[in-house]
Amino acid sequence: MPEPTTPEQPARPTSPTTPEQGTRPTSPTTPEQPARPTPPTTPAAARPHTSSFPAAATSPRATHPAAWAPTATGNNPLIKVTNLTRDYPRPRTSILKRAEVVHALKGVTLDVKPGERFGIVGESGCGKSTLLRIIAALDRPTTGKVVVDGKDITNLPERRLRFLRENLQLVFQDPMSSLDPRMRVRDIIAEPLVVQGHPASGARVKELLDAVGLSADAGDRFPHQFSGGQRQRISIARALAPNPKILIADEPVSALDVSVRAQVLNLISDLVDELDLTLVFVSHDLSVVKHVCDRVAVMHAGEIVETGTTGEVYAAPRAPYTRRLVAAIPTLPKALAGATPQDLIPKGARG
Ligand SMILES: Nc1ncnc2c1ncn2[C@@H]1O[C@H](COP(=O)(O)OP(=O)(O)OP(=O)(O)O)[C@@H](O)[C@H]1O
Ligand SMILES: [Mg+2]
Repeated sequence: MPEPTTPEQPARPTSPTTPEQGTRPTSPTTPEQPARPTPPTTPAAARPHTSSFPAAATSPRATHPAAWAPTATGNNPLIKVTNLTRDYPRPRTSILKRAEVVHALKGVTLDVKPGERFGIVGESGCGKSTLLRIIAALDRPTTGKVVVDGKDITNLPERRLRFLRENLQLVFQDPMSSLDPRMRVRDIIAEPLVVQGHPASGARVKELLDAVGLSADAGDRFPHQFSGGQRQRISIARALAPNPKILIADEPVSALDVSVRAQVLNLISDLVDELDLTLVFVSHDLSVVKHVCDRVAVMHAGEIVETGTTGEVYAAPRAPYTRRLVAAIPTLPKALAGATPQDLIPKGARG
């Protein structure tokens, strides 16, 4: 529940006052969480953000049992989107003109398999967030179909979407606007549980804070008292609260300082492994998607122009638009390849 406004809370958040807290405070002393069906393949040392999950007692799965076991297995899609279109009316510029329509999605079809890390990449305005909103049943398509774990959710009324509301959680681009500045962090994290009518214990909040690398006392503070990276960690903890099976992340690191992007990406990646989540990850940056995802769909102007493994699409893009996207990834100029340190010093400054 929202906390009442207190004197210590400013009307609008100001600049962060605490440094980014990148790693977990203590090293692991107990084995990995036993409840996970298949053990992670990544060595613990390579997962600094979650490798200190102590044991089931404090893992993010511990005090809130999963409410839903997806039946989709192997190659059967967990999310299946077919021929999705979404038209939005453009605001009228004159009463004499007919209202124009924005075709945000123009026949999108894709499958996401259970346990997959699926990326969606494309430039601003190509329809990525629209597609995610429709998959999350926060918006309805104009035409087409969305099936999650065999259930057609396209036109399900809200009262029948409870399984989706608990098991599909979202993390958005800007944690400042997605976290209520009037709520303490512990209430923000507990909110999805409270909304679904579950008990939200202090222990549960503490284990979620721990899972995202924040200390227990972070729960007493307000969002403006954290850095951007820490706020995104809070958003991730909130998303994990109901033990979702599907995590949807819409540009989760685009608003962050470059220095903390990798930490938050690694955290998401580790948690997806650790909790056996299916991830749908949106970015306008193919190199970010490559870092996190197994497979990627490239979107352009409301359509998917190419789908493949991230390695394939990155190394040998087929669609002309994907080639342009890959070419736009900043790299050291080819001229510098093979240059010696001496070559990098401006000519006039060489000794
Ligand atoms: N609620 C809405 N009403 C009207 N038009 C909308 C609405 N939502 C999205 N659009 C339009 O649909 C198109 C796709 O928008 P969308 O937000 O899905 O793009 P995006 O790929 O997520 O862009 P970005 O990378 O900037 O977040 C845009 O032209 C946008 O203006
Ligand atoms: Mg968007």
